[in-house]
Amino acid sequence: MRSQSDRLLSLDFESMTSFSNTHSRYLLDFFADQVDSNIQNNLVSELMTRYAGLSRQLEEKNELLNTYNEQLEELVREKVKEITSSQVATIHALVKSAESRDDDTGAHIERTAGYCRLIAEKLFEDKLYADIVDRDFIDNIEMASPLHDIGKVGIEDAILLKPGQLTFEEFEIMKTHVTKGYETLASVESVYHENAFLKLGMEISRYHHEKWDGRGYMSGLSGEDIPLSARIMALSDVYDALRSKRVYKEPFSHEKTLGIITDGRGLHFDPVLVDVFMKHHSLFEEVFDRLSNN
Ligand SMILES: [Fe+2]
Repeated sequence: MRSQSDRLLSLDFESMTSFSNTHSRYLLDFFADQVDSNIQNNLVSELMTRYAGLSRQLEEKNELLNTYNEQLEELVREKVKEITSSQVATIHALVKSAESRDDDTGAHIERTAGYCRLIAEKLFEDKLYADIVDRDFIDNIEMASPLHDIGKVGIEDAILLKPGQLTFEEFEIMKTHVTKGYETLASVESVYHENAFLKLGMEISRYHHEKWDGRGYMSGLSGEDIPLSARIMALSDVYDALRSKRVYKEPFSHEKTLGIITDGRGLHFDPVLVDVFMKHHSLFEEVFDRLSNN
């Protein structure tokens, strides 16, 4: 039979053994967790490093790809510009030969292109009609403005070159140059869709004899219903016609022309455009003098 002290010792030993086992398990679990956690941390850290490396490589490749794309776009832009310039030059040559029927120097189309560009640039600078006028508009209106009277090719010499005043019937025929020009350009545009240059040419050709107050021809549009390009062309065309010698009139001075254009503010011409014109009128005189043989 065990003594009291033996029992106590035995109890202590059991509880100590039990405690020791529990503690060991706890420690083992703890170390196992630590090891797991370290392995996981190392793994995550390695993955992060690899990911960062891959991201960097991807970024570098993207940058390289962007550079290639930009270079390619630039090349395409240059080529398109080259093609456009040669096409525009060809069209201008054709228009100029047609224009020479009623304009000895043929400089009317260069000057009106100059005025159109000038007005568009000043509108752009002053943020007027900003929803329409941007850098492309400035370039396109300069290129397309020579098409405004392309329909005159279809007007017979007896009317186009008549020195005196046209009869009512003759004037009715003369008016059709706007629709003739528009239809010619529209037939070209039906093949080359979405060409901004042609679209602007069509607008200008069709509506450049409309008046702000609705008394122009052929459509009888008024105000901002008339495309801006055609309103700019109307002002440029009239300024140049007044300054030039015609079979029926002598050239007017710059000052006299300013008076006529001011009188037409809100009647023949868009008031905003007349204000821009008046603010910079000396620049228009410079274009006229530079490109004129008068
Ligand atoms: Fe015209």
